[in-house]
Amino acid sequence: MNGNPLWYKDAVFYEVYVRAFRDSDGDGYGDLRGLIEKLDYLQDLGVDCIWLMPIFPSPLFDDGYDVADFRDIHPDYGNLDDFKELVAEAHKRSIRIITDLVLNHTSSHHPWFQAARKDKTSKYRDYYVWSDTDQKYSEARIIFLDTETSNWAWDEEAGQYYWHRFYSSQPDLNYENPQVQQEMLDVMKFWLDLGIDGFRADAIPYLYEREGTNCENLPETHAYLKQARAFFDKHAPEGILLSEANQWPEDVRAYFGDGDEMHMAFHFPVMPRIFMALKRQDSTPIRQILERTPEIPENTQWCTFLRNHDELTLEMVTEDERQWMWQQYAPDPRMRLNLGIRRRLAPLLDNDKATILLANSLLFTLPGSPILYYGDEIGMGDNIWLDDRNGVRTPMQWDSSQQAGFSEAQELYAPVIAEVPYAPAQVNVASQQADPDSLYHHIKRMIAARKSQPAFSCGDLAWAETDKPEETLAYYRRSNGETLLVINNLSAGAQTVRVKLAQGVGPAFSDLLNGQNFQADGGFLEAKLPPRGYLWLKAG
Ligand code: NOJ
Repeated sequence: MNGNPLWYKDAVFYEVYVRAFRDSDGDGYGDLRGLIEKLDYLQDLGVDCIWLMPIFPSPLFDDGYDVADFRDIHPDYGNLDDFKELVAEAHKRSIRIITDLVLNHTSSHHPWFQAARKDKTSKYRDYYVWSDTDQKYSEARIIFLDTETSNWAWDEEAGQYYWHRFYSSQPDLNYENPQVQQEMLDVMKFWLDLGIDGFRADAIPYLYEREGTNCENLPETHAYLKQARAFFDKHAPEGILLSEANQWPEDVRAYFGDGDEMHMAFHFPVMPRIFMALKRQDSTPIRQILERTPEIPENTQWCTFLRNHDELTLEMVTEDERQWMWQQYAPDPRMRLNLGIRRRLAPLLDNDKATILLANSLLFTLPGSPILYYGDEIGMGDNIWLDDRNGVRTPMQWDSSQQAGFSEAQELYAPVIAEVPYAPAQVNVASQQADPDSLYHHIKRMIAARKSQPAFSCGDLAWAETDKPEETLAYYRRSNGETLLVINNLSAGAQTVRVKLAQGVGPAFSDLLNGQNFQADGGFLEAKLPPRGYLWLKAG
């Protein structure tokens, strides 16, 4: 869009669930035209790239991650012309658009699967993974533990079992088949031709199966992704592939290849450790996981997040840590789902503004490009009584009206959060925009400050030594002679912290958020931080 193929290294991302964002035609479902209406809002917030959850025709057994047609728009959301207009309008505002590319599986309603199950001789039969027994690949774990008992499902019509890593309504595609490989490249091309800026590649560790393995991160998967990247580069030199690989850092590292595989990858393990550190008031978990995070190629970038549309996943923690996280953050069993917690950011953090801002301070200053989940910038609540992950996918709260300015319809796809303190009367965009001290404005200022300092996006990370190594997390971000020093107070008490300055840094610092000046003395900077406070300083 602007001739900068590395734009994603500096970008602020924002995840939108189209169904939930804004309903333009009063049918109770958010749609693409509704999102177009809200692009000015996102531009003003400082968003550079929007990630759209799946917008394709689907029976919605997994909210669109069960795709029934890879080349069209779900009628609830609009049509391909609306999509083209969305891309054009976003680009006018220098905002890029990526959407989910669900490579691993289709919906069982997809015509390929329908043809495959009906006729053993159909070319589509081999698009999926079939077996006469349900005993193969027994080392592969079940991901949707609360609903699925096996990765195999019996299909009466086909007279065989088929393989599925997610719901049984999502049969896995067979990547051994070169036609499947090509089909999905063609799907990418279809959307790239419509002007899209890339994809969030869903569930990529699971593309291939091999007996005797856990069927994750296999070499064949990497080989295909490299092929996809080469194809992608040819058609979209400025586009990105963002990998959803919920794995340990060393396994995710492989998805960057030599800078010839995925451009970006979510950093899953750091996310729960931010929550651990906040609750324990101890920076150790964050420090440890970042020390375990390998270097990545120059042309790649981590993507960091606090929450998204799924449960807060606890797959990348130890069993003890998971139990502890559940006790602390999901005391009610309704809050738990699979290996995670189905709650939003604000309720997880007891709606404590200082803690929510501290979490965002970490998000915006640690390595990686940050992604915000819609509604978290205003501290929206959740509804644990809705099924599956729907409780974190409720209508966006634009104003204080009953339907929250989301829709003019009486009946909505899901109820607006109605309970105090998260109902529209308490939490909405309009009132936070009017209040300079609101969560929204603090986050907007953080985004602006982050974007004014390239070292936040490209700089390396070095810990700063302090006299409060547990209560605080202090670090330098440095690039091209620019040095930033961030000090976060993880504790619920005020802290006076002495930071030992690294060689050649300081003694003068300016505060990037509040415009204050600081002066170090004798090689130490002394700073007073309020409970859960943070300082973003620039040396010189
Ligand atoms: C990961 C997505 O984030 C999740 O929402 C979905 O259910 C699975 N992949 C299956 O596509």
